[in-house]
Amino acid sequence: MAFFDYREKGRNRFMAVLVTGGAGYIGTHTVVELQQAGYDVVVVDNLSNASEKALKRVEAITGKPVTFYKVDILDRDGLEEVFSKEKIDSCIHFAGLKAVGESVQRPWEYYQNNIAGTLTLVDVMRRHHVKNIIFSSSATVYGNPAFIPITEECPKGQCTNPYGWTKSMLEQILTDMQKADPEWNVILLRYFNPIGAHKSGTMGENPNGIPNNLMPYITQVAVGKLKELSVFGNDYDTPDGTGVRDYIHVVDLAIGHVKALKKIEEGAGLCIYNLGTGVGYSVLDIVKNFEKASGVTIPYVIKGRRAGDIATCYADASKAEKELGWKAERDVLEMCEDSWRWQKNNPNGYEE
Ligand code: NAD
Ligand code: UFG
Repeated sequence: MAFFDYREKGRNRFMAVLVTGGAGYIGTHTVVELQQAGYDVVVVDNLSNASEKALKRVEAITGKPVTFYKVDILDRDGLEEVFSKEKIDSCIHFAGLKAVGESVQRPWEYYQNNIAGTLTLVDVMRRHHVKNIIFSSSATVYGNPAFIPITEECPKGQCTNPYGWTKSMLEQILTDMQKADPEWNVILLRYFNPIGAHKSGTMGENPNGIPNNLMPYITQVAVGKLKELSVFGNDYDTPDGTGVRDYIHVVDLAIGHVKALKKIEEGAGLCIYNLGTGVGYSVLDIVKNFEKASGVTIPYVIKGRRAGDIATCYADASKAEKELGWKAERDVLEMCEDSWRWQKNNPNGYEE
């Protein structure tokens, strides 16, 4: 059998890491960090929410070519071809649909893409004796968290939308597969709120249409594409009444994946980690920090609460520090500066 026992032999440097969804926001930043750490990377992406130009920007930063396959993870034959041609020994699995509101309108598409896609991917992986996977999960699996700061021991909760359920269900599916076959190494990474962009100002978040998330909305107001920010509720039980979240720089998040890969090389079994900073900021804190970072005033109006939102969500990320040697290092001002540099230099994202 071709299974490679890292614990005895160390990693074979001729093997590559498959990054599904590698042309997307978190994927591109992770590919940069992987290449800079010396890994060979193969990207699979169907470009449903990404541009191939983003991978050119990755190559410009690292000076290394990215092997790219425009393949859908639901396409078993396409994946078979990738695994036959490339020497893959592990997978960082970002590919998925992620728009919360859209998932409420189109639940079938979300369950089909995210769940059936992942089932196809892991089946092709095991057929090729590749049993190492890092999965992009989310703090959304905690629902309205039982306690704050949220540790990994916090019970999973009721999700408020189909997107969240796909994350929660996929965690369960991968957990059950690892239990049944301990040759699998499965790391579930629960991200808090990724914002920020690469320091070069050439890569960042590039949402389709009007952004749903706070930071891209603010940057589009700052660049003049949107009139004003709507603040969804100022009557929460938080210091200033607006929602509190754990914003994490996307480069810190990307580095967390490189650390998780090292853990897999040592033999991870099943591990779950929160990736956050451990600090909560309100919507108005983010507005103020962004204004300081950019020198641009952000007009805003207070609106009613957004359905499905919770008051407060921030991580206890000490487990990742203890077990992965990972800690978020970039502060909120740097997150705002980097988001702004990206938006200002690329008002239309990856389109020229
Ligand atoms: P993104 O949309 O920028 O990246 C996802 C990528 O997957 C896109 O490039 C898209 O084209 C690709 N994709 C989607 N379906 C595919 C399919 N069937 N086959 C092949 N490629 C496919 O999103 P992101 O923010 O980079 O998120 C990456 C992952 O992290 C997602 O799984 C997301 O759910 C998860 N996550 C994101 C956040 C966040 O706030 N950004 C928070 C928690 C978890
Ligand atoms: N907000 C506004 N106005 C906006 C957008 C957001 O006031 O235009 C507020 C929200 O009400 C919330 C905060 O800003 O209090 C953050 O909202 P985001 O939409 O940026 O992020 P969420 O915390 O709602 O959700 C994000 C991702 C999910 C992921 C979750 C993990 O979108 O996919 O983080 O915690 F599951």
